[in-house]
Amino acid sequence: MTTHEITLTVNGTKRELSVEPRTLLIHALRDHLGYTGPKVGCESSLCGACTVHVDGKAVKSCTLLAVQADGADVTTVEGLGAADELHPLQAAFQDEHGLQCGYCTPGVLLSALALLESEPDPSRTEIRAALEGNLCRCTGYQNIVDAVETAADRMPAAEGDD
Ligand code: FES
Ligand code: FES
Repeated sequence: MTTHEITLTVNGTKRELSVEPRTLLIHALRDHLGYTGPKVGCESSLCGACTVHVDGKAVKSCTLLAVQADGADVTTVEGLGAADELHPLQAAFQDEHGLQCGYCTPGVLLSALALLESEPDPSRTEIRAALEGNLCRCTGYQNIVDAVETAADRMPAAEGDD
């Protein structure tokens, strides 16, 4: 099988890898580079478990071939914060009990972050609309919306500290 050499900058680190033309971005991230934060759920653009940022936009990484992302900046949940230094969005999810299972939460966080970067003060309706592509099979959405609201309140102050 022919392979292609591509370069991805993942969470600020430039990575070079060799992928088949059919390789999806989610598999390049997980299987080639070891970023297991993004999850493989439906592989058909429905569940949002694979959501990452590609050049600053929330993208379902099962909908993109890795070769299409050649040269892109990618952010996965591993790039948000560390266990001892959570991103304000992660801290808000913890405080509001918006954290669900490890399967849906990484994608929810990346979709929520994309929303807050484009709309720092979203309404609850806007939050729900932004997260409609991220499914939780347990339907625990209420606390997630609360968490995004809390993060919106906190994030301007948090980023002002930089
Ligand atoms: S795995 Fe990509 S949307 Fe479900
Ligand atoms: S908590 Fe993740 S699918 Fe429900």
